[in-house]
Amino acid sequence: MKNIVVFASGSGSNFQSIINAVSNGKLTANIVGLITNNKSAFALERAQKHGIPTFIISPDQFNSESEYSKTVLSKLEEWNADLLILAGYLKKIPVEIIQSFDNRILNIHPSLLPKYGGKGFYGSKVHEAVIRNKDSQSGCTVHVVTAEYDEGPVIGQSTVQVTDSDTATSLAEKVLEREHILLPETIQKYLTTLKNY
Ligand code: GRF
Repeated sequence: MKNIVVFASGSGSNFQSIINAVSNGKLTANIVGLITNNKSAFALERAQKHGIPTFIISPDQFNSESEYSKTVLSKLEEWNADLLILAGYLKKIPVEIIQSFDNRILNIHPSLLPKYGGKGFYGSKVHEAVIRNKDSQSGCTVHVVTAEYDEGPVIGQSTVQVTDSDTATSLAEKVLEREHILLPETIQKYLTTLKNY
C-alpha cells in the first residue's frame, strides 16, 4: 500500500475526507503524516484524533528555500512518503521538492482549472470572481503539481451549477462538498497509475 502525506494550512476538511475514505475502504492507502505551516490549523486536531503524525514547518523559519526543502524532504523520507496531497495548503512548494516527487504531488483547487487558477486565485477570491463574472458553472479540480502554479495536468474535475441566488459563500460550500468526493476518488484512481515509479 502506498504512503500518503497530506499538506494542509487550515480547517483540513479535505484532509478529513481522505481520512474517512481510508477508514471506509474507498481509498487503499496509508496516511503517514500531516504537514502544516500553521500551528493553529484545525487539521492538526483532526490528525491527532486519528493518531496521524504531524510536522509543523514554515518556510519563514529558514534562511534559504533550500534549507527548508531539505528539512521537509528528510521528514518525507522518514515517513516513507510515496504521494503528497496538497489539500488547502497555502505555501508554495519549492522546486526541489517538486523534482524529488516528480508526478507524485497532487493539489485540489476550488475552480474548474484552467479558469481562476494561478497567483491570487485562492479560497474566497476564486468564488468571488466566479460570481462577479456571472459564470453559470464552477467546480473543483485535482491536478498534478508542477513548477508552474496551478498548471499541472488535470486528473479530476467536478462541476456545480451556479444559480442567480448564489453568493461567494454559498458557492464555496457547494464546491467544498464536491471536493470531499472528488479528492479521495481521484487519489484512488491516481494510485493505480503509480505502480512503477
Ligand atoms: C479548499 O477549497 C481547497 O480547494 C483549497 O483550500 C480549501 C481548503 O479547505 N485549496 P479545507 O482546509 O480542506 O477545509
